[in-house]
Amino acid sequence: MQKNIAKTLFWQANTLYLLDQLVLPGKVLYKKCKTYKDVSEAIKNMIIRGAPAIGVAGAFGIVLAGIKASRFSPLEKLSYIKKASILLISSRPTAVNLKWAVERMVKVAEKSVNLNPQNYINVLTDAAFEIYDEDIAVNKKMGELGARLLKKDSVVLTHCNAGALATAGYGTALGVIRTAYKDGKIKNVFVDETRPYLQGARLTAWELQQEKIPYTLITDNMAGYIMKTNRIDAVIVGADRIALNGDVANKIGTYSLSILAKYHKIPFYVVAPVSTIDFNTTYGSKIVIEERSADEVLKINGKEIAPKGTTVRHPGFDVTPASNITMIITEKGVFKPNKISTLKKIK
Ligand code: MRU
Repeated sequence: MQKNIAKTLFWQANTLYLLDQLVLPGKVLYKKCKTYKDVSEAIKNMIIRGAPAIGVAGAFGIVLAGIKASRFSPLEKLSYIKKASILLISSRPTAVNLKWAVERMVKVAEKSVNLNPQNYINVLTDAAFEIYDEDIAVNKKMGELGARLLKKDSVVLTHCNAGALATAGYGTALGVIRTAYKDGKIKNVFVDETRPYLQGARLTAWELQQEKIPYTLITDNMAGYIMKTNRIDAVIVGADRIALNGDVANKIGTYSLSILAKYHKIPFYVVAPVSTIDFNTTYGSKIVIEERSADEVLKINGKEIAPKGTTVRHPGFDVTPASNITMIITEKGVFKPNKISTLKKIK
């Protein structure tokens, strides 16, 4: 499975290549990143997006910083890596995987500060690949656990893109859908287009089409009508940050979907690795919600759609209360949201 999907990111000759998600599905182009600043810009501009994917990109950002600093003195190395980590973490504020992955890399860089330049680079590169490989492995595990919750020929609805493109590969919510499809459990997937970035229309539809998984695209405001008039067996989404009380930050629109699902008595599943749990945040209301530019709402494909001077709000995410979530599927098991705090932080 997932054989046809272009890689979200790859590493070659000390360069990070990111699949440019801004031009998908029309073009398959890779953006070259040679410095940690290039990586930070690409994360900010959403060339790469999705919580686990930006974590992995951030990890390779630290490798790029390490390559630059490899001949510096130990003290200079430490300060250069610190500076790079601050910039990388600040690239996007809501998805906690970015902070988690970059901090894990900083610890490796600190421990390796006395190594010779080549060994220092090798250790950092291996550590970033470990994060990459782990991400694919946990997605497959979540796929397996999540698919067990679905019955044969299910019709599901998903929001945003929580697929291979939002991770190192396979996907979280879409990973569950992939495994369930393989097991004969998916009849159709309703895909929310996900305004304003259209991750659903451009990315999720692209992934599903490549794998020949049946799907139907809807605009976000159709979800209620579809739930009322169609059989929907489950809503399955990813997450950008999970608070200890089980509240979940995810793409804007997830909260509204959760209310619709509750009203229509449809199970609402969140699929996310333990690295998406923020063990320092007790409640969802404490999660920082990224506000993005007005332009992204005012324009579609570069074309203005509202009168000049229109006031805009553009929160990139919202918080779904634990009470609207049926289960959270992690690689460590399936939990009721109020039990998520029993999990242990991973290194
Ligand atoms: O703004 P984005 O596209 O980075 O937002 C992505 C999402 O909200 C995804 O649903 C989330 O990161 C889970 S992805 C595995």
